[in-house]
Amino acid sequence: MSSETFPALMIHEDRLAPGRVELCRLSRAELMDGEVEIAVEYSSLNYKDALAITGGARILRHSPLVGGIDAAGRVVESGQTGLPVGTPVLVTGCGLGELHHGGYAARLRVPADWIIPIPEGLDTREAMLLGTAGLTAALALSRLEDNRQSVEAGPMLVTGASGGVGALAVSLLAARGFEVVALTGKPELTDWLMGLGASRVLDRAAFRPGRRPLEKAQWGGVVDTVGGELLGTLTRGVRPWGNIVSIGLAGGADLHTTVMPFILRGVSLLGVTSANCPRDQRLHLWQRLASDLRPSDLAALHTRTVGLAELVEVSEQMLGGRTYGRTLVEITASG
Ligand SMILES: NC(=O)c1ccc[n+]([C@@H]2O[C@H](COP(=O)([O-])OP(=O)(O)OC[C@H]3O[C@@H](n4cnc5c(N)ncnc54)[C@H](OP(=O)(O)O)[C@@H]3O)[C@@H](O)[C@H]2O)c1
Repeated sequence: MSSETFPALMIHEDRLAPGRVELCRLSRAELMDGEVEIAVEYSSLNYKDALAITGGARILRHSPLVGGIDAAGRVVESGQTGLPVGTPVLVTGCGLGELHHGGYAARLRVPADWIIPIPEGLDTREAMLLGTAGLTAALALSRLEDNRQSVEAGPMLVTGASGGVGALAVSLLAARGFEVVALTGKPELTDWLMGLGASRVLDRAAFRPGRRPLEKAQWGGVVDTVGGELLGTLTRGVRPWGNIVSIGLAGGADLHTTVMPFILRGVSLLGVTSANCPRDQRLHLWQRLASDLRPSDLAALHTRTVGLAELVEVSEQMLGGRTYGRTLVEITASG
């Protein structure tokens, strides 16, 4: 392989479309620093990837850069790390696709402490069906568990429910016995969301929560991937001691509310950041995703498989709200 080249999706932050994203071939000498080299088999498409590819927000902190915040494959070279060649591994976040060449290439070299050996119970493909979205949904669940969110406290509302993180949150919460209400802009996906475990599906277009400082307390808790105005209004309708996990900004980055839900109902607003998740927690949550949290419906969560050449088109669809579930990216030696 030393003189051979491999396919990669390179993003140039300083260029406008159509030159921004380039399908190219790289050599191993062009890989970035790290002890471990991986032959990448799969990656996935996350909202952050779509923003990086389209230039919808400034994600890259180094340019040009191979995109892709997720990667799974097999170790081909591991220096002195003791990781046997052939070990199935994954990397999510840690600067991949932001500061360091990412998973949209057939080869990846990274520092050893970014690597998670894929636990028994998952293969490289399943690991990327979960990817950052799976780790994020598991982090949300773990924050709820740590902050004593109980099933008895009442229904959990999941916003952006048809998205990668949202759909996984529906599945994980339902499997833990929570009553899950899915809020979506795609009511036509009601059967699919109920199949993942939602007990009710609400249409975002018809959802009009009130704007008084405290509204009727109807939600035991909330897992929110939308942010903005929706998150602000949802803080007003959570039951005493309920938790809201703030994950995303698909609907906006602002947050307008009052302190009333926090000081009169003891509501907690919990944050999640998967990219910077400490290694011990990553290892623990991937172990759980392969065992007690392993979604029984991974096949249903998977809605499409694409190659590197299709990523620009699918990213535009994702940011336009026209995708759902998880998009797997298959990486082959020919691109
Ligand atoms: N904090 C973290 O560590 C972390 C990790 C991963 C992702 N995220 C964030 O979480 C969010 C979801 O990521 P993802 O990868 O799951 O993306 P995704 O698959 O595209 O899901 C986003 C979902 O949000 C909803 N949505 C889209 N545009 C909207 C709008 N204008 N207003 C309201 N809802 C809208 C849609 O669901 P419906 O049509 O069903 O409403 C869409 O499917 C993103 O903001 C992403 O940056 C954060």
